[in-house]
Amino acid sequence: GLLDAKFKAKGRRYYGAIADPNTLSNTQVQTLLKTEFGAITPENSLKWDATEPSRGSFNFGNGDQTVNFATSNGRLVRGHTLVWHSQLPGWVSSITDKATLTTVLQNHVTTLVSRYRGKIYAWDVVNEIFDDSGNFRQSVFYKVLGETFVDIAFKAARAADPAAKLYINDYNLDGPGNKIDQLLALVNRLKSRGIPIDGIGSQAHLILGQVGGVQAQLVRLGATGLEVALTELDIRIPKDVTSAKLSQQQNDYATVTRACLAVSNCVGITVWGVSDRNSWVDSTFPTYDSPLLFDDNFAKKPAYNGVDGAL
Ligand code: XIL
Repeated sequence: GLLDAKFKAKGRRYYGAIADPNTLSNTQVQTLLKTEFGAITPENSLKWDATEPSRGSFNFGNGDQTVNFATSNGRLVRGHTLVWHSQLPGWVSSITDKATLTTVLQNHVTTLVSRYRGKIYAWDVVNEIFDDSGNFRQSVFYKVLGETFVDIAFKAARAADPAAKLYINDYNLDGPGNKIDQLLALVNRLKSRGIPIDGIGSQAHLILGQVGGVQAQLVRLGATGLEVALTELDIRIPKDVTSAKLSQQQNDYATVTRACLAVSNCVGITVWGVSDRNSWVDSTFPTYDSPLLFDDNFAKKPAYNGVDGAL
């Protein structure tokens, strides 16, 4: 791919995007994935509600389709995500005892990671485990098991696929504050007790004109010695979209691209969508729009030139 090839020429591993059967059904999406992007993150198909909707009964139809599209086209895959409080079935969140939850967690992680063993560049092992104040989110995992749920998940993932890079992933790591401080403190504790962690993912769901903090925080994440990546990049525009805002977005994408390039162990960038036609922003942030590199008709936006020009 073009962006991917330029990014690799800078010594990086991939410039990626998301996919799933609902978007792969569009041939223009497939074409852009093949021409521009070097890695694919399944948007929803590997989440707990999709893969284990009831205990011990696994569904891999959509996950297999997406992973097969990626690997048969020579693309890397980021597995997303093993342990997350959201898109989590009720049967998991209602577990109250440690022994049961430990078994369930180990079985879920082992089953997913084993199924795709050898096909996954990196797994987001835990996702969004801190709240915005930097406290552990009060998920069933934390409430029942405490911090050790993180250890259990990483150890099970490493055992099931020793070659996959294992990541902690979170959002709002784009500016200073207690959230990034606490995430870094946890990473240090994990390392000191020998838990196999390889990377830190910064989701980077950003807002137009508010990208100035990305590089400084990415430097801090990279100073752990782990790999770092921008795993879910988008830059949403407050409505209404104007040509002035689209050129601000071009600058913002260039700034974010340069932030990764400034950190030697920033291995990859994944944009959370191929085109503005299919973005979670439409439903999640209805007063924002147009967060991605290609428009509703799959034409390159100024944002695309922002990335391209920074590479
Ligand atoms: C989003 C998907 O894009 C939506 O299709 C879905 O309805 C909700 O989840 N942080 C994450 C991603 O880690 O998994 C989320 O993806 C966006 C926020």
